[in-house]
Amino acid sequence: MTARFESNKQFDAEASDLLSQIIQYRRDVRGNRFLPTPIEDSALKQILDAALHAPSVGFSQPWEFVLIKDKATKHKIRESFNTENDKAKDTLSHSLDKDKQTQYQGLKLEGIEESPLNLAVFYKPSKQPVLGQTSMPDMGRFSVVCAVQNMWLMARSLNIGMGWVSILNPDDVKAILKAPKDRELIAYLCVGYVDKFYDKPELELQKWEARKNAEQVIIKEQYLNDSFS
Ligand SMILES: Cc1cc2nc3c(=O)[nH]c(=O)nc-3n(C[C@H](O)[C@H](O)[C@H](O)COP(=O)(O)O)c2cc1C
Repeated sequence: MTARFESNKQFDAEASDLLSQIIQYRRDVRGNRFLPTPIEDSALKQILDAALHAPSVGFSQPWEFVLIKDKATKHKIRESFNTENDKAKDTLSHSLDKDKQTQYQGLKLEGIEESPLNLAVFYKPSKQPVLGQTSMPDMGRFSVVCAVQNMWLMARSLNIGMGWVSILNPDDVKAILKAPKDRELIAYLCVGYVDKFYDKPELELQKWEARKNAEQVIIKEQYLNDSFS
């Protein structure tokens, strides 16, 4: 007798090794690395298809993707970045020491105008209750993040760079893109070919942050009483 939902695809060690390499070598790419070369339609389709196959709470698929190539639109978004980044510099000046402040000033944190394609990823809340989202209302938003990660990995497998820009005013972005009122901006992504991919995060190479090791973040069974803080 055949099972009702028959399918049991298996992968081999070569496939899992390839996936770990794609995960390990995925990078956030900024404007210092993007090339203007346009992305082929077939590659873009693969990237978007990866997004459409992401997991989502209650299979709600609460995502929408705005593809932006227009220079004038990108310029307006870049202006929002500049305004927000000036605010960030001001905020960080109260909490960072002088060396870190100087380092922050020198960081390239977006590639909006350098990348040939920008992707604004929106959360479209459901008007009906969603299976699985009744206790934790952010689950729809987290589902959209899963779609972003799928795209990031698929792009890397195609040797296409992707960078996430979060130093933006989401209301500005919504207005520029004429997004309906109920949509929420989850991610603003810069996408394009690169002159090179770094092997490690730029923020690690520039000694802004170090990678955490497993012992620092993996907890066996439960937190100890003295580690709640
Ligand atoms: C939610 C999120 C928001 C981010 N926002 C920015 C950003 O505004 N600017 C930037 O340069 N990088 C941004 N990044 C990229 C991170 O800095 C980067 O992922 C981290 O430094 C690790 O580097 P890697 O992605 O190359 O491994 C963001 C990443 C995530 C996941």
